[in-house]
Amino acid sequence: MKVLHGKKIIVGITGSIAAFKAADLASKLAQVGAEVDCVLTNSAEKFITALTFQSVTGRRAYTDSDLWGNEAHVLHVGLGKDADLFVVAPCTANSIAKLANGIADNLLTVTALAAQCPIVLVPAMDGGMYDHPALQENLNKLKARGVIIFEPVDGHLASGLTGKGRMREPAEILGNIRLILGRGGLLAGKKVVVTAGGTQEALDPVRILSNRSSGKQGYALAQAALDSGAEVVLISTPTALPAPIGARMVQVESAKQMLESVLNETVGVDALIMAAAVADFRPKNAADDKMKKRDGIPQIELEETEDILKTVSGLPVGKKRPHVVIGFAAESRNLLENAREKLSSKKVDLIVANDISAKESGFGVDTNRVTLLYADGRQDSLPLISKTEAAEAVIEKLAVLLEK
Ligand code: CTP
Repeated sequence: MKVLHGKKIIVGITGSIAAFKAADLASKLAQVGAEVDCVLTNSAEKFITALTFQSVTGRRAYTDSDLWGNEAHVLHVGLGKDADLFVVAPCTANSIAKLANGIADNLLTVTALAAQCPIVLVPAMDGGMYDHPALQENLNKLKARGVIIFEPVDGHLASGLTGKGRMREPAEILGNIRLILGRGGLLAGKKVVVTAGGTQEALDPVRILSNRSSGKQGYALAQAALDSGAEVVLISTPTALPAPIGARMVQVESAKQMLESVLNETVGVDALIMAAAVADFRPKNAADDKMKKRDGIPQIELEETEDILKTVSGLPVGKKRPHVVIGFAAESRNLLENAREKLSSKKVDLIVANDISAKESGFGVDTNRVTLLYADGRQDSLPLISKTEAAEAVIEKLAVLLEK
Protein backbone atom coordinates (compact mmCIF):
# COMPACT_ATOMS: atom_id res chain seq x y z
CA MET A 1 0.00 0.00 0.00
CA LYS A 2 1.73 3.05 -1.26
CA VAL A 3 0.22 5.52 1.14
CA LEU A 4 1.90 3.80 4.10
CA HIS A 5 4.88 2.20 2.45
CA GLY A 6 8.10 3.43 4.07
CA LYS A 7 6.21 5.95 6.19
CA LYS A 8 7.61 6.50 9.65
CA ILE A 9 4.84 6.12 12.20
CA ILE A 10 5.28 6.46 15.94
CA VAL A 11 2.72 4.49 17.95
CA GLY A 12 2.54 5.75 21.53
CA ILE A 13 0.94 3.42 24.05
CA THR A 14 -0.33 4.61 27.43
CA GLY A 15 -1.75 2.80 30.46
CA SER A 16 -5.14 1.44 29.49
CA ILE A 17 -6.44 -2.08 29.06
CA ALA A 18 -7.00 -1.13 25.40
CA ALA A 19 -3.18 -1.34 25.09
CA PHE A 20 -3.62 -4.90 23.81
CA LYS A 21 -5.39 -3.50 20.76
CA ALA A 22 -2.37 -1.26 20.08
CA ALA A 23 -0.36 -4.40 19.28
CA ASP A 24 -2.85 -5.16 16.51
CA LEU A 25 -2.63 -1.58 15.24
CA ALA A 26 1.19 -1.68 15.20
CA SER A 27 1.07 -5.04 13.43
CA LYS A 28 -1.39 -3.80 10.81
CA LEU A 29 0.75 -0.71 10.14
CA ALA A 30 3.89 -2.84 9.79
CA GLN A 31 2.11 -5.27 7.45
CA VAL A 32 1.30 -2.49 5.00
CA GLY A 33 4.92 -1.39 4.88
CA ALA A 34 5.18 1.37 7.48
CA GLU A 35 8.26 1.73 9.69
CA VAL A 36 6.65 1.58 13.11
CA ASP A 37 8.41 2.87 16.22
CA CYS A 38 6.53 2.12 19.43
CA VAL A 39 6.90 4.14 22.61
CA LEU A 40 5.40 2.78 25.83
CA THR A 41 4.79 4.72 29.01
CA ASN A 42 5.51 3.09 32.40
CA SER A 43 1.78 2.53 32.89
CA ALA A 44 1.45 0.94 29.45
CA GLU A 45 4.16 -1.54 30.47
CA LYS A 46 1.87 -2.73 33.27
CA PHE A 47 -0.54 -4.00 30.59
CA ILE A 48 1.77 -5.06 27.76
CA THR A 49 5.50 -5.41 27.11
CA ALA A 50 7.83 -3.73 24.65
CA LEU A 51 8.69 -7.21 23.39
CA THR A 52 5.15 -7.62 22.04
CA PHE A 53 5.59 -4.51 19.90
CA GLN A 54 9.10 -5.48 18.83
CA SER A 55 7.71 -8.82 17.71
CA VAL A 56 4.99 -7.36 15.53
CA THR A 57 6.95 -4.43 14.07
CA GLY A 58 10.37 -6.05 13.67
CA ARG A 59 11.85 -2.89 15.20
CA ARG A 60 12.98 -1.89 18.65
CA ALA A 61 10.19 -0.61 20.89
CA TYR A 62 11.07 2.15 23.35
CA THR A 63 10.26 2.61 27.02
CA ASP A 64 11.12 5.27 29.57
CA SER A 65 14.35 3.49 30.42
CA ASP A 66 15.54 4.52 26.95
CA LEU A 67 14.98 8.18 27.80
CA TRP A 68 17.82 7.96 30.28
CA GLY A 69 19.79 5.40 28.32
CA ASN A 70 22.66 5.63 25.88
CA GLU A 71 20.72 7.42 23.17
CA ALA A 72 19.70 9.92 25.87
CA HIS A 73 18.47 13.31 24.75
CA VAL A 74 18.69 12.69 21.02
CA LEU A 75 16.24 9.78 20.96
CA HIS A 76 13.02 11.72 21.38
CA VAL A 77 14.12 14.52 19.09
CA GLY A 78 15.15 12.02 16.41
CA LEU A 79 11.93 10.04 16.65
CA GLY A 80 9.73 13.12 16.64
CA LYS A 81 11.57 14.96 13.90
CA ASP A 82 11.60 12.12 11.38
CA ALA A 83 8.06 10.84 11.87
CA ASP A 84 5.30 11.20 9.26
CA LEU A 85 2.63 10.65 11.90
CA PHE A 86 2.45 10.17 15.66
CA VAL A 87 -0.53 8.23 16.95
CA VAL A 88 -1.17 7.64 20.64
CA ALA A 89 -3.48 4.66 21.01
CA PRO A 90 -4.77 4.15 23.60
CA CYS A 91 -4.43 7.63 25.05
CA THR A 92 -5.49 7.93 28.69
CA ALA A 93 -7.05 10.96 30.37
CA ASN A 94 -3.75 11.50 32.18
CA SER A 95 -1.70 11.56 28.96
CA ILE A 96 -4.27 13.83 27.31
CA ALA A 97 -3.88 16.25 30.23
CA LYS A 98 -0.09 16.15 29.95
CA LEU A 99 -0.10 16.66 26.19
CA ALA A 100 -2.61 19.50 26.44
CA ASN A 101 -0.39 21.30 28.91
CA GLY A 102 2.99 20.58 27.38
CA ILE A 103 4.12 18.43 30.28
CA ALA A 104 7.09 16.36 29.19
CA ASP A 105 7.87 13.85 31.91
CA ASN A 106 8.30 10.65 29.90
CA LEU A 107 9.61 9.53 26.50
CA LEU A 108 6.15 9.63 24.91
CA THR A 109 5.34 13.18 25.97
CA VAL A 110 8.79 14.61 25.17
CA THR A 111 8.62 12.95 21.74
CA ALA A 112 5.23 14.60 21.19
CA LEU A 113 6.78 17.99 21.91
CA ALA A 114 9.57 17.32 19.44
CA ALA A 115 7.24 15.98 16.74
CA GLN A 116 6.70 18.08 13.65
CA CYS A 117 4.18 15.71 12.05
CA PRO A 118 0.41 15.32 12.49
CA ILE A 119 -0.46 13.99 15.96
CA VAL A 120 -3.45 11.70 16.44
CA LEU A 121 -4.84 10.79 19.85
CA VAL A 122 -7.16 7.82 20.28
CA PRO A 123 -8.65 8.15 23.76
CA ALA A 124 -9.72 5.17 25.84
CA MET A 125 -11.16 5.50 29.33
CA ASP A 126 -13.80 4.29 31.68
CA GLY A 127 -17.42 5.36 32.09
CA GLY A 128 -18.10 9.03 32.67
CA MET A 129 -14.46 10.17 32.46
CA TYR A 130 -14.70 11.19 28.82
CA ASP A 131 -17.47 13.68 29.54
CA HIS A 132 -15.63 15.33 32.42
CA PRO A 133 -15.23 19.06 31.77
CA ALA A 134 -11.51 18.91 32.59
CA LEU A 135 -10.93 16.27 29.94
CA GLN A 136 -13.10 18.05 27.37
CA GLU A 137 -11.25 21.29 28.04
CA ASN A 138 -7.94 19.51 27.42
CA LEU A 139 -9.22 17.98 24.21
CA ASN A 140 -10.45 21.35 22.96
CA LYS A 141 -7.03 22.85 23.69
CA LEU A 142 -5.36 20.06 21.71
CA LYS A 143 -7.81 20.33 18.79
CA ALA A 144 -7.21 24.09 18.61
CA ARG A 145 -3.52 23.25 18.17
CA GLY A 146 -4.32 20.93 15.26
CA VAL A 147 -4.09 17.64 17.13
CA ILE A 148 -6.51 15.10 15.62
CA ILE A 149 -8.77 13.19 18.01
CA PHE A 150 -10.40 9.88 17.04
CA GLU A 151 -13.26 9.97 19.53
CA PRO A 152 -14.03 6.85 21.57
CA VAL A 153 -17.25 4.96 20.94
CA ASP A 154 -20.10 3.85 23.14
CA GLY A 155 -19.91 0.29 24.35
CA HIS A 156 -18.84 -2.17 27.02
CA LEU A 157 -16.03 -0.81 29.23
CA ALA A 158 -13.46 -2.64 31.37
CA SER A 159 -15.31 -1.67 34.57
CA GLY A 160 -18.41 -3.50 33.37
CA LEU A 161 -20.12 -0.18 32.73
CA THR A 162 -21.29 0.85 29.30
CA GLY A 163 -20.64 4.32 27.98
CA LYS A 164 -18.49 6.43 25.72
CA GLY A 165 -14.91 5.39 26.30
CA ARG A 166 -14.11 2.36 24.15
CA MET A 167 -11.11 2.90 21.95
CA ARG A 168 -11.74 2.81 18.18
CA GLU A 169 -10.90 -0.53 16.58
CA PRO A 170 -7.42 -0.85 14.98
CA ALA A 171 -8.85 -1.29 11.46
CA GLU A 172 -10.75 1.96 11.82
CA ILE A 173 -7.70 3.78 13.20
CA LEU A 174 -5.64 2.45 10.28
CA GLY A 175 -8.28 3.65 7.77
CA ASN A 176 -8.26 7.12 9.28
CA ILE A 177 -4.45 7.26 9.34
CA ARG A 178 -4.52 6.48 5.60
CA LEU A 179 -6.91 9.38 5.04
CA ILE A 180 -4.58 11.76 6.88
CA LEU A 181 -1.47 10.60 5.02
CA GLY A 182 -3.35 10.62 1.70
CA ARG A 183 -4.28 14.30 1.97
CA GLY A 184 -2.56 16.27 -0.74
CA GLY A 185 -2.12 13.11 -2.86
CA LEU A 186 -2.48 12.76 -6.63
CA LEU A 187 -6.27 13.08 -6.48
CA ALA A 188 -6.51 15.79 -3.82
CA GLY A 189 -9.63 17.88 -4.41
CA LYS A 190 -11.06 15.37 -6.91
CA LYS A 191 -14.35 13.52 -6.62
CA VAL A 192 -14.48 9.93 -7.77
CA VAL A 193 -17.40 7.50 -8.00
CA VAL A 194 -16.56 3.78 -8.00
CA THR A 195 -18.99 0.89 -8.52
CA ALA A 196 -18.32 -2.58 -7.17
CA GLY A 197 -19.77 -6.06 -6.83
CA GLY A 198 -22.15 -8.14 -8.89
CA THR A 199 -25.70 -6.89 -9.36
CA GLN A 200 -28.60 -9.00 -8.13
CA GLU A 201 -31.71 -9.34 -10.26
CA ALA A 202 -34.80 -10.65 -8.47
CA LEU A 203 -36.58 -13.73 -9.76
CA ASP A 204 -39.01 -13.73 -6.83
CA PRO A 205 -38.79 -12.44 -3.21
CA VAL A 206 -36.29 -15.21 -2.37
CA ARG A 207 -34.20 -15.87 -5.46
CA ILE A 208 -31.85 -13.76 -7.51
CA LEU A 209 -29.81 -13.94 -10.70
CA SER A 210 -26.29 -12.77 -9.95
CA ASN A 211 -22.63 -13.42 -10.83
CA ARG A 212 -19.35 -14.39 -9.20
CA SER A 213 -17.97 -10.88 -8.65
CA SER A 214 -16.58 -10.48 -5.11
CA GLY A 215 -16.25 -6.70 -5.29
CA LYS A 216 -12.55 -6.93 -4.31
CA GLN A 217 -11.21 -4.96 -7.29
CA GLY A 218 -13.82 -2.20 -6.89
CA TYR A 219 -13.18 -1.85 -3.15
CA ALA A 220 -9.43 -1.76 -3.78
CA LEU A 221 -10.00 1.04 -6.31
CA ALA A 222 -12.08 3.01 -3.82
CA GLN A 223 -9.32 2.57 -1.21
CA ALA A 224 -6.59 3.58 -3.65
CA ALA A 225 -8.57 6.71 -4.59
CA LEU A 226 -8.98 7.56 -0.89
CA ASP A 227 -5.25 6.97 -0.34
CA SER A 228 -4.62 9.53 -3.10
CA GLY A 229 -6.72 12.16 -1.34
CA ALA A 230 -9.93 11.89 -3.41
CA GLU A 231 -13.45 12.25 -2.11
CA VAL A 232 -14.95 8.84 -2.87
CA VAL A 233 -18.47 7.50 -3.31
CA LEU A 234 -18.60 3.71 -3.48
CA ILE A 235 -21.77 2.32 -5.05
CA SER A 236 -21.82 -1.32 -4.10
CA THR A 237 -24.00 -4.39 -4.23
CA PRO A 238 -23.98 -6.57 -1.08
CA THR A 239 -20.46 -7.98 -0.55
CA ALA A 240 -18.56 -9.55 2.33
CA LEU A 241 -16.03 -6.69 2.32
CA PRO A 242 -15.66 -3.94 4.95
CA ALA A 243 -16.47 -0.42 3.72
CA PRO A 244 -13.28 1.55 3.06
CA ILE A 245 -12.96 4.16 5.83
CA GLY A 246 -13.76 7.59 4.47
CA ALA A 247 -15.80 6.46 1.46
CA ARG A 248 -19.48 7.35 1.28
CA MET A 249 -21.28 4.05 0.68
CA VAL A 250 -24.37 3.75 -1.49
CA GLN A 251 -25.91 0.28 -1.31
CA VAL A 252 -27.78 -1.07 -4.32
CA GLU A 253 -28.84 -4.48 -5.55
CA SER A 254 -30.06 -4.43 -9.15
CA ALA A 255 -28.64 -2.97 -12.36
CA LYS A 256 -31.56 -0.53 -12.40
CA GLN A 257 -30.78 0.74 -8.88
CA MET A 258 -27.11 0.98 -9.79
CA LEU A 259 -27.94 3.06 -12.87
CA GLU A 260 -30.09 5.45 -10.81
CA SER A 261 -27.40 5.83 -8.16
CA VAL A 262 -24.63 6.32 -10.73
CA LEU A 263 -26.66 9.04 -12.49
CA ASN A 264 -27.36 10.76 -9.15
CA GLU A 265 -23.84 10.51 -7.80
CA THR A 266 -21.84 11.40 -10.90
CA VAL A 267 -23.25 14.92 -11.34
CA GLY A 268 -20.24 17.24 -11.15
CA VAL A 269 -17.69 14.56 -10.25
CA ASP A 270 -14.30 14.18 -11.88
CA ALA A 271 -14.33 10.46 -12.59
CA LEU A 272 -16.44 7.33 -12.72
CA ILE A 273 -14.85 3.89 -12.43
CA MET A 274 -17.30 1.11 -13.32
CA ALA A 275 -15.72 -1.95 -11.72
CA ALA A 276 -19.08 -3.58 -10.97
CA ALA A 277 -20.15 -6.70 -12.80
CA VAL A 278 -23.53 -5.52 -14.02
CA ALA A 279 -26.11 -8.07 -15.17
CA ASP A 280 -26.84 -7.82 -18.88
CA PHE A 281 -30.23 -9.49 -18.50
CA ARG A 282 -32.86 -9.53 -15.78
CA PRO A 283 -36.11 -11.49 -15.39
CA LYS A 284 -38.77 -9.53 -17.25
CA ASN A 285 -41.39 -10.10 -14.57
CA ALA A 286 -40.13 -10.87 -11.09
CA ALA A 287 -42.75 -12.91 -9.24
CA ASP A 288 -44.40 -11.13 -6.30
CA ASP A 289 -44.65 -14.38 -4.36
CA LYS A 290 -42.17 -17.20 -3.95
CA MET A 291 -42.31 -19.54 -6.92
CA LYS A 292 -43.54 -22.97 -5.81
CA LYS A 293 -42.14 -26.29 -6.92
CA ARG A 294 -45.61 -27.68 -7.31
CA ASP A 295 -46.22 -25.18 -10.15
CA GLY A 296 -43.59 -26.92 -12.29
CA ILE A 297 -40.36 -25.72 -13.92
CA PRO A 298 -40.67 -21.94 -14.36
CA GLN A 299 -40.20 -20.43 -17.79
CA ILE A 300 -38.24 -17.27 -17.09
CA GLU A 301 -38.28 -14.59 -19.74
CA LEU A 302 -35.34 -12.21 -19.61
CA GLU A 303 -34.99 -8.64 -20.79
CA GLU A 304 -31.88 -6.55 -21.34
CA THR A 305 -30.69 -4.19 -18.59
CA GLU A 306 -29.49 -0.66 -19.26
CA ASP A 307 -25.77 -0.31 -20.06
CA ILE A 308 -24.72 2.05 -17.27
CA LEU A 309 -21.25 2.78 -18.63
CA LYS A 310 -22.54 3.58 -22.10
CA THR A 311 -25.33 5.76 -20.73
CA VAL A 312 -22.99 7.88 -18.57
CA SER A 313 -20.25 8.07 -21.21
CA GLY A 314 -22.80 9.34 -23.73
CA LEU A 315 -23.90 12.28 -21.54
CA PRO A 316 -22.84 15.81 -22.56
CA VAL A 317 -19.15 16.26 -21.74
CA GLY A 318 -18.33 18.68 -18.92
CA LYS A 319 -21.98 18.89 -17.84
CA LYS A 320 -23.21 15.50 -16.77
CA ARG A 321 -20.43 13.24 -18.01
CA PRO A 322 -17.55 12.97 -15.55
CA HIS A 323 -14.27 14.18 -17.10
CA VAL A 324 -12.85 10.68 -17.08
CA VAL A 325 -14.88 7.47 -17.40
CA ILE A 326 -13.13 4.14 -16.81
CA GLY A 327 -14.66 0.75 -17.57
CA PHE A 328 -13.66 -2.87 -17.09
CA ALA A 329 -13.77 -5.66 -19.61
CA ALA A 330 -14.16 -9.09 -18.07
CA GLU A 331 -13.38 -11.56 -20.83
CA SER A 332 -12.84 -15.28 -21.00
CA ARG A 333 -11.43 -15.21 -24.57
CA ASN A 334 -10.15 -12.75 -27.19
CA LEU A 335 -9.36 -10.42 -24.31
CA LEU A 336 -7.80 -7.48 -26.12
CA GLU A 337 -10.03 -7.62 -29.17
CA ASN A 338 -13.22 -7.64 -27.08
CA ALA A 339 -11.86 -5.00 -24.71
CA ARG A 340 -10.95 -2.69 -27.59
CA GLU A 341 -14.46 -3.09 -28.98
CA LYS A 342 -15.92 -2.10 -25.58
CA LEU A 343 -13.53 0.87 -25.37
CA SER A 344 -14.94 2.35 -28.56
CA SER A 345 -18.59 1.25 -28.35
CA LYS A 346 -18.92 2.51 -24.77
CA LYS A 347 -16.85 5.66 -25.52
CA VAL A 348 -14.79 5.44 -22.35
CA ASP A 349 -11.37 6.97 -21.72
CA LEU A 350 -9.76 3.82 -20.38
CA ILE A 351 -10.70 0.15 -20.28
CA VAL A 352 -9.14 -2.22 -17.76
CA ALA A 353 -9.16 -5.61 -19.45
CA ASN A 354 -8.88 -8.74 -17.37
CA ASP A 355 -8.92 -12.39 -18.31
CA ILE A 356 -11.46 -13.96 -15.97
CA SER A 357 -10.68 -17.47 -17.18
CA ALA A 358 -7.16 -17.33 -15.68
CA LYS A 359 -6.92 -18.75 -12.15
CA GLU A 360 -4.89 -15.83 -10.84
CA SER A 361 -6.97 -13.00 -12.32
CA GLY A 362 -10.55 -14.16 -12.09
CA PHE A 363 -13.35 -13.56 -9.63
CA GLY A 364 -12.76 -13.81 -5.90
CA VAL A 365 -8.94 -14.05 -5.92
CA ASP A 366 -6.63 -11.35 -4.54
CA THR A 367 -4.49 -10.99 -7.65
CA ASN A 368 -5.10 -9.62 -11.11
CA ARG A 369 -3.34 -9.38 -14.46
CA VAL A 370 -4.74 -6.46 -16.39
CA THR A 371 -4.09 -4.59 -19.61
CA LEU A 372 -5.01 -0.93 -19.79
CA LEU A 373 -6.36 0.26 -23.13
CA TYR A 374 -6.67 4.00 -23.74
CA ALA A 375 -9.01 5.85 -26.08
CA ASP A 376 -5.98 7.27 -27.95
CA GLY A 377 -4.76 3.76 -28.85
CA ARG A 378 -2.08 3.39 -26.19
CA GLN A 379 -1.85 0.12 -24.31
CA ASP A 380 -0.20 -0.87 -21.01
CA SER A 381 0.14 -4.51 -19.96
CA LEU A 382 0.68 -4.88 -16.23
CA PRO A 383 2.27 -8.00 -14.71
CA LEU A 384 0.48 -10.32 -12.28
CA ILE A 385 0.00 -8.13 -9.20
CA SER A 386 -2.34 -7.87 -6.24
CA LYS A 387 -5.72 -6.24 -6.76
CA THR A 388 -4.45 -3.48 -4.44
CA GLU A 389 -1.48 -2.81 -6.72
CA ALA A 390 -3.68 -2.99 -9.82
CA ALA A 391 -6.00 -0.43 -8.21
CA GLU A 392 -3.07 1.86 -7.37
CA ALA A 393 -1.85 1.64 -10.98
CA VAL A 394 -5.30 2.53 -12.34
CA ILE A 395 -5.59 5.48 -9.93
CA GLU A 396 -2.19 6.79 -11.03
CA LYS A 397 -3.34 6.62 -14.68
CA LEU A 398 -6.58 8.34 -13.71
CA ALA A 399 -4.61 11.21 -12.16
CA VAL A 400 -2.70 11.65 -15.44
CA LEU A 401 -5.93 11.55 -17.50
CA LEU A 402 -7.47 14.19 -15.23
CA GLU A 403 -4.55 16.53 -15.85
CA LYS A 404 -5.25 16.58 -19.57
N1 CTP B 1 -21.45 -2.44 -17.72
C1 CTP B 1 -22.44 -1.53 -17.44
N2 CTP B 1 -23.75 -1.86 -17.60
C2 CTP B 1 -24.10 -3.09 -18.05
C3 CTP B 1 -23.09 -4.03 -18.35
C4 CTP B 1 -21.78 -3.68 -18.18
O1 CTP B 1 -22.11 -0.42 -17.03
N3 CTP B 1 -25.39 -3.38 -18.17
C5 CTP B 1 -20.04 -2.04 -17.58
C6 CTP B 1 -19.24 -2.87 -16.58
O2 CTP B 1 -19.30 -2.29 -15.29
C7 CTP B 1 -17.85 -2.80 -17.16
C8 CTP B 1 -18.09 -2.69 -18.66
O3 CTP B 1 -19.43 -2.24 -18.82
O4 CTP B 1 -17.16 -1.64 -16.74
C9 CTP B 1 -17.93 -3.99 -19.40
O5 CTP B 1 -18.66 -5.01 -18.76
P1 CTP B 1 -18.61 -6.49 -19.32
O6 CTP B 1 -19.49 -7.33 -18.46
O7 CTP B 1 -17.19 -6.89 -19.50
O8 CTP B 1 -19.21 -6.31 -20.76
P2 CTP B 1 -20.65 -6.18 -21.33
O9 CTP B 1 -20.85 -4.81 -21.84
O10 CTP B 1 -21.66 -6.66 -20.33
O11 CTP B 1 -20.58 -7.15 -22.60
P3 CTP B 1 -20.46 -8.77 -22.63
O12 CTP B 1 -21.10 -9.29 -21.37
O13 CTP B 1 -21.19 -9.14 -23.85
O14 CTP B 1 -18.99 -9.08 -22.69
